[in-house]
Amino acid sequence: MTLMSAFHLAAFVVSLACLSMAMKTPTQVLTELNATKFLDIVQKANDQRILGGNTDDLYTVLVPSDAAFNKLSSAEQNNLENIPGLLQDVLGVHVIPGQLFSWDFVNGRVIVTDNGHFVRVYEPNQDSTYLNSAKVVRWDVEAKGVVFIVIDTVLDAPEGTIYEVLRGPDFGLNIFADMVDKAQMNNTLHQTAGPYTVFVPSQTAWDNLPDTIKDEFSRNIGLLRSVVQYHIHRGSLHVKSLDRNGTLNTFYGNHLIHVSVTNDIKLNRVAGLEEVDIDCDNGVIHIIDHFLFPSTAGSVIGKK
Ligand SMILES: *[C@@H]1O[C@H](CO)[C@@H](O)[C@H](O)[C@H]1NC(C)=O
Ligand SMILES: *[C@@H]1O[C@H](CO)[C@@H](O)[C@H](O)[C@H]1NC(C)=O
Ligand SMILES: *[C@@H]1O[C@H](CO)[C@@H](O)[C@H](O)[C@H]1NC(C)=O
Repeated sequence: MTLMSAFHLAAFVVSLACLSMAMKTPTQVLTELNATKFLDIVQKANDQRILGGNTDDLYTVLVPSDAAFNKLSSAEQNNLENIPGLLQDVLGVHVIPGQLFSWDFVNGRVIVTDNGHFVRVYEPNQDSTYLNSAKVVRWDVEAKGVVFIVIDTVLDAPEGTIYEVLRGPDFGLNIFADMVDKAQMNNTLHQTAGPYTVFVPSQTAWDNLPDTIKDEFSRNIGLLRSVVQYHIHRGSLHVKSLDRNGTLNTFYGNHLIHVSVTNDIKLNRVAGLEEVDIDCDNGVIHIIDHFLFPSTAGSVIGKK
């Protein structure tokens, strides 16, 4: 028997042992975990997926610790209480249909939450696991109908698809959204299929672009399309997983983005990250301070 299957068997035996004992209710367990803020929210929302203790309808619930809630700004905490629907959205991101245990969270796995958002598993080393931007602090706490996993950060409730966030008022990304339209990538970035990671040049990146290149973009739709596609990676990558030197595939053929990590993270040695981990329904956006150009653009723009 391999080590792994011995581990699985042991875990299986342990979970059988737990089943045979009377299970505590979700409320009891959340109280014992000192997850008072989460319990408070769940009770306000009267969320029966979590509180119901229904063993025919099992859920895995990511529980932000009280410390996680304390990291939210007071504006964010107010929003949670006052913006209609936000609480439900935020809860939904933390609820996964079915029963999952620590061994199900393998590096790179993308898990779809109960309201259709993506949670990506990232294990930088043996001792830590991240779910999107949140670090797991406690695994596999069972209650009736639920498995709880405690995390150190409240996960974001996305405000729409990547395309909707590009078009939205929050980040001022309309120039890139217009480019996405012209490159006919708007439908792709609006689909619930995915997930994608989009590196979106900021307004400053646009302002710093030479006029010759802006002119070329308006003349040469092929160039524009290749550049837009070159900013899109297939798969969801939060900044925690951009922690080593390497390359990322893109929508533009075999053209890769180079990631270099020294004191900070640079893409193709020029572009730094301005704002990271903007979660969307179909992936994640990072705002960057320079445009990225594939090598094929070299002849057109003079130089990479
Ligand atoms: C919950 O808080 C109590 C009192 O501070 C403490 O004794 C206990 O160890 C805590 N439990 C967990 C799971 O952190
Ligand atoms: C994408 O652009 C096309 C052509 O302009 C348009 O018909 C379509 O509705 C757009 N899709 C989205 C999601 O905006
Ligand atoms: C990435 O490469 C640079 C230059 O070779 C090196 O200084 C740096 O330590 C590397 N970063 C990591 C995280 O290995």
